[in-house]
Amino acid sequence: MPNDERLVNEQHLEPLKRHPEGRALRAEVDLGRIARNLGRVRTASGGRGIWAVVKANAYGHGAVPVSRALEEAGVHGLAVSSLEEGLELRRGGIECPVLVLGGLRPEALPAASAENLTIAVVGPEHLDDYARALPRHPVRLHLKLDTGMGRFGLLPSELGEHLLQLQRLAPWIEGAMGHFATADDPDPGFAQRQRGVFDACLAQLADGGIRPEQRHHGNSDACLRGMLGQDTHVRPGLALYGLTMLAEGRALGLEPALELVAEVARVKAMPAGTTVGYGRTFVAPHPLQIATLACGYADGYRRDLGNKAVVGFQGRTFPVVGRISMDYLTVALPLDVHLAIGDPMTLYSGNPDAAHSLERLAQLLGTIPYELTCALHRRITRRFTP
Ligand SMILES: Cc1ncc(COP(=O)(O)O)c(C=O)c1O
Repeated sequence: MPNDERLVNEQHLEPLKRHPEGRALRAEVDLGRIARNLGRVRTASGGRGIWAVVKANAYGHGAVPVSRALEEAGVHGLAVSSLEEGLELRRGGIECPVLVLGGLRPEALPAASAENLTIAVVGPEHLDDYARALPRHPVRLHLKLDTGMGRFGLLPSELGEHLLQLQRLAPWIEGAMGHFATADDPDPGFAQRQRGVFDACLAQLADGGIRPEQRHHGNSDACLRGMLGQDTHVRPGLALYGLTMLAEGRALGLEPALELVAEVARVKAMPAGTTVGYGRTFVAPHPLQIATLACGYADGYRRDLGNKAVVGFQGRTFPVVGRISMDYLTVALPLDVHLAIGDPMTLYSGNPDAAHSLERLAQLLGTIPYELTCALHRRITRRFTP
């Protein structure tokens, strides 16, 4: 049986230490904004208990510092995706409940129990193994119900078949959960169906004597839209980071917590006709300056932002020109802009209305802001303000 040390790849989890002369790229994370966003989400969800979702390195923001801030701000618990992510939080000194959303193989139960992790039961296959292990290695369980996401969770049709096994686990079952597939859809039809399935599953469990004290089905968008039914808890992620694609989210005043800032690594004045970068996709239409920033697709800055995005500098925006390369990108500025090596440029703005906000860039790419923040590589220095 693997011990928990071997389950964690320390090298991967430990961020690279920045040398003073090293790459000048940092994610500025405002923990005060995250705490204020939590307050807004809490109000929107009627004061329900909050399982704050901090998986994937807190959506790229930095798992341990963000979790500490959320713990201090009074969340009920934190939700991660895997055992490794849970252990990372415990090693970082997090003491509140930590829920592993992605489930756990039975052989990892001793490690989870030793670290007081809460585990989502994501299917019927290991119920007997769990029942055998839990008396010696207790963990709190949350039963995942597949109400229409079609991914993890027991299907309603499986509940009857596995009721006896679930009854053996009842002393450890603290919660029941589902997950909306369409909380962002203006048409609430499918979400309402999922809610109906969730309620029917809870009734079926109650008939079998299983009454989880916690019930949660709602992510950020469900909180913002008040789709919370009889739930006791909610599981917001994106909104805590101040990001949202919903008008309801903007109306709530959510504040983006992350800015991505790169210092200018090189500046060059270029004559008209000069081409920039791989494939020569940008040709200078007139004399201009090219600023090279040490941020590339290896950092998570998407390659298809080349010749599309803008960056912020001294209250103005300037175009990203040429292809994004692995470690660098290039920005075109008029010759009269005073520019020096070391000047900071903002690649992702904390102002949601800016052309280089995460929401606007995600729209430009036909994706969602989650993908952009989660992609921010661990080699990027995170700088946290309280
Ligand atoms: C099971 C589960 N619950 C909650 C969330 C949080 O969702 P959101 O970030 O949209 O609030 C996620 C995110 O992917 C999730 O997978």
